Amino acid sequence: MMSTSYVPSRRCTSTMIDADDHPLLQAEALTKRYGAQVGCRDISFELYPGEVMAVVGESGSGKTTLLQLLSAQLVPSAGQVSYRMRDGVTRDLASLGEAERRFLFRTDWGYVHQEPALGLRMAVSGGANVGERLMAVGWRHYGRIRGAAKHWFDRVEIAGDRIDDAPTTYSGGMRQRLQIARNLVTNPRLVFMDEPTGGLDVSVQARLLDLIRRLVAELRLAAVIVTHDLAVARMLSDRIIVMKDGAAIESGLTDRVLDDPREPYTQLLVSSILPA
Ligand SMILES: Nc1ncnc2c1ncn2[C@@H]1O[C@H](COP(=O)(O)OP(=O)(O)O)[C@@H](O)[C@H]1O
Ligand SMILES: [Mg+2]
Repeated sequence: MMSTSYVPSRRCTSTMIDADDHPLLQAEALTKRYGAQVGCRDISFELYPGEVMAVVGESGSGKTTLLQLLSAQLVPSAGQVSYRMRDGVTRDLASLGEAERRFLFRTDWGYVHQEPALGLRMAVSGGANVGERLMAVGWRHYGRIRGAAKHWFDRVEIAGDRIDDAPTTYSGGMRQRLQIARNLVTNPRLVFMDEPTGGLDVSVQARLLDLIRRLVAELRLAAVIVTHDLAVARMLSDRIIVMKDGAAIESGLTDRVLDDPREPYTQLLVSSILPA
């Protein structure tokens, strides 16, 4: 008979299942109006731990508005967003105080901007950009901060000898990789990305996509990735939401939506962007 010491801990297993059983992020009937203009309307979905959702749609369809609502940077006109905090309690983002919201942003969340200058401090060194996030969560030991920064330079494939250079001296692809390192160093569970590969050369994009895909899998990150590029959605996401005029007109598993789109608009989007 098998000794009990070889039996995997049921408690551990069931705890993991329990945690994964609850949505990490939940949008309920989210609507944002800018005066008479609708940013997005009546969007509902659940995102589970480790799940990657792509938000696709043409320019002006409401992708950035949705991302900013989900990350508590905009206040919804109607509806709500809830987030399951690290302590297992699910909170309505609107009920969080400013300090709690900022703490989430420093620890459990990442936000990767299309424009690296919005997510980096361009005047300080690359290493300081990564170290700063750790200091914000209480790290004080210089050697350890430096060690963690070095480790992350390695993970995002920036040569270690660039650690003291300012990001102004980095290429576009390096800046974006640095932004990713800065975001991931605090071990977030959820990362928001707004067109993370937009504006980069095709070969640079491919390398960045590959890196994002690898890190997301290795770290079991949940992510909401906004992109107008269906190839990016195909490569990175488990699920897709298609937006048009502020509404989610179609959603489903990525392969289903891209290979067998149901809505005429999605069919158009797929046929006009992806080669047949
Ligand atoms: N600050 C704002 N004030 C007024 N209208 C806005 C503002 N931000 C976005 N919009 C409008 O909301 C709609 C959705 O915009 P946005 O979320 O930026 O779309 P996307 O990211 O898909 O390009 C557009 O019609 C846009 O003009
Ligand atoms: Mg946008």
